[in-house]
Amino acid sequence: MSSNSIDPSQAKKQSLKTNQGNSIPVLGLGVWKSSPPECYQAVTDALALGYRHIDTAAIYGNEESVGKAVADSKIDRSELFITTKLWNADQGKEKAEVAFEKSLSKLNIDYVDLYLLHFPVSEKRNESWKVLERIYKSGRAKSIGVSNFMIPHLQELIQETGLVPAINQVEVHPFLNQKELRAYCDSQNILVEAYSPLAHGKRIEDPSISKIAEKYKKTNAQILIRWSIQSNMIVLPKSVKKARIDENGSVFDFSISDFDMEFLNSLDENYRTCWDPSDVV
Ligand SMILES: NC(=O)c1ccc[n+]([C@@H]2O[C@H](COP(=O)([O-])OP(=O)(O)OC[C@H]3O[C@@H](n4cnc5c(N)ncnc54)[C@H](OP(=O)(O)O)[C@@H]3O)[C@@H](O)[C@H]2O)c1
Repeated sequence: MSSNSIDPSQAKKQSLKTNQGNSIPVLGLGVWKSSPPECYQAVTDALALGYRHIDTAAIYGNEESVGKAVADSKIDRSELFITTKLWNADQGKEKAEVAFEKSLSKLNIDYVDLYLLHFPVSEKRNESWKVLERIYKSGRAKSIGVSNFMIPHLQELIQETGLVPAINQVEVHPFLNQKELRAYCDSQNILVEAYSPLAHGKRIEDPSISKIAEKYKKTNAQILIRWSIQSNMIVLPKSVKKARIDENGSVFDFSISDFDMEFLNSLDENYRTCWDPSDVV
């Protein structure tokens, strides 16, 4: 993707098309570990700054705050992209639909734009996926996908159910670049969402990132976020601070050169800050 094609006034609305037909803004606000009041304020600030995509989950305990901030913003629902996720304890054919309805009710909306299986729970994920398929067909989720799925989980899901996820949301940043998984997703037309794109805040100040940031006169966080976008991913930085939410969204007025992208691509060290689902059978 080239930043030359971006209209700066539309920057935060730049989107990618999913294999299920809807469009997803490439930049979304993450709200994991945002307390309900922080979450309300962060979503309010993000929407005022032009973000149109919010990533929450039932387990984050802040769906009600997302719903309230969205309602109070008075932004037309059709302009917004709201994602939530089915928590592990609610997987399975008995519980999944009830959990989905609970999320919709907390969010105070009629449909979500994306509903994800939060994790590839053993012996539950495929039957849960069939429940998500029913929800998708009913129109209450405009697209459905998965999170934390590795290649074998995806292969099994597609083989057993025949329905390819629109999205796989996984941890990705230059220190964990998930090259093989991303190539497999690409081959199946599954979009990748980069969670913890700032390595959960743990590697923002890394000297390798500072070197590139100085060159482009951008902040380290902006380089990490821009790397995700130029790697054709959707990116979900989290902050509860308005200035940082603004900073993290101001990534559409520059482009990292191929040479510097190659350098950033060389920083992979399999550094995980969150779940490692590789051993989940
Ligand atoms: N599906 C999954 O299993 C899964 C797992 C993890 C994350 N996620 C999603 O991905 C989102 C992002 O991941 P994440 O929350 O782990 O971490 P992240 O976005 O990589 O990093 C967030 C951390 O960086 C800080 N930060 C944000 N912007 C900054 C900036 N410009 N300069 C310096 N520090 C900055 C934040 O602090 P402040 O808030 O204080 O600014 C916070 O401590 C989550 O919120 C969630 O929506 C999904």
